[in-house]
Amino acid sequence: MNQRLELLAAYPFERLARLKAGITPPALLAHIAMSIGEPKHAPPQFVIEALRRELGKLDSYPVTAGLPEMRAACAAWLERRFNVRLNPEGMVLPVNGTREALFSFVQAMVSTTHTVRQPVVAMPNPFYQIYEGAALLAGAEPVFLNTTAGNRFQPDLDAVPVDVWKRCEVLFLCTPGNPTGSVLSLEFMRHALALADKHDFVIASDECYAELYRDEHAPPPSLLQAAAANGHDAFQRCVVFHSLSKRSSVPGLRSGFVAGDPALIKPYLLYRTYHGSAMPVPTQLASIAAWNDDAHAAVNRALYREKYARVLPILQPVLDVVEPDGAFYLWPDIQRDDEAFTRDLYATQNLTILPGSYLARDTRAGNPGRHRVRISLVAPVDECVQAAQRIRTFLESP
Ligand SMILES: Cc1ncc(COP(=O)(O)O)c(C=O)c1O
Repeated sequence: MNQRLELLAAYPFERLARLKAGITPPALLAHIAMSIGEPKHAPPQFVIEALRRELGKLDSYPVTAGLPEMRAACAAWLERRFNVRLNPEGMVLPVNGTREALFSFVQAMVSTTHTVRQPVVAMPNPFYQIYEGAALLAGAEPVFLNTTAGNRFQPDLDAVPVDVWKRCEVLFLCTPGNPTGSVLSLEFMRHALALADKHDFVIASDECYAELYRDEHAPPPSLLQAAAANGHDAFQRCVVFHSLSKRSSVPGLRSGFVAGDPALIKPYLLYRTYHGSAMPVPTQLASIAAWNDDAHAAVNRALYREKYARVLPILQPVLDVVEPDGAFYLWPDIQRDDEAFTRDLYATQNLTILPGSYLARDTRAGNPGRHRVRISLVAPVDECVQAAQRIRTFLESP
């Protein structure tokens, strides 16, 4: 067996289930789940219809590179959204959701010839758990870059020792961030890219929340824009990950794409061909419809904004919590043990959230998720309001 499997930590939801085991919450309150990051808004009808219409195309094997029309729709969206031009031939690849892509990309990128110096995959801390698993299974050392209120939830790249940069092969960025909601600026990403040039590593920018942001006039930038601004005309060293799961509320469609440096996309495509991860043709055709339409994404965004507007006035008098720049989480500082908080909230209010420490790792500077919890605003507006009221009751009770 692959011994590296033993390195994998229990997934946060497994730990959460253990934390809740044996507790009987009040039966009079219906359960509200705010622990998972699964969008719950109704999927756009036109995407469902496109999928239905195309089901007859299940009769043939899809190719790993995807349909030219799919790649073109992704490239066209990138151009509309970020004002960058990518050649759909060689710079864009469909993936079955970004989760599998974030994992498999690292398997394809991390070198296998090292004997003395273990490669590093650097990532923000807290982080989307796949980054760490991908690094460990590729034989790399995950290095955690703490994101805290003190650094506005942005990794301090200048604090990373040169020796770590020298071993670094992949740097993960996540913008807007899960769970912090922090958006990285173009300047930040340009600096990251300058470091990548200097120390010869690749940047994997997880931008799956790029369409969920607070300010309609300030959409989060992409690493691709930073590459263009740094004169990387072929997006050298850069790969971005985009998804329909959050943008279009279709997490079950399993549809996303990666885009960027053709010198990285080419070996990654070879890896995927062997791995066997082609996207079914009906999924691609429904995805084209979704990527071609921006109006439904704006409606989706407005729904999240409404939730923040309704929930925050209830919570802010009792909790240190702010509206994030992007994504759909609250990441409050609860100033107490996050496991006990989560457990007691469930026990008294039948409401499930996630302890922040489950999403981060211990470092010499501590666990940056400690004393924080992640609250997902994925439920319908009324349910989110009810949940906020329950949290307030919980905090106000003696
Ligand atoms: C930061 C981040 N990246 C990637 C994903 C994976 O999304 P998908 O595989 O649905 O594209 C998630 C899902 O929650 C996420 O939070």
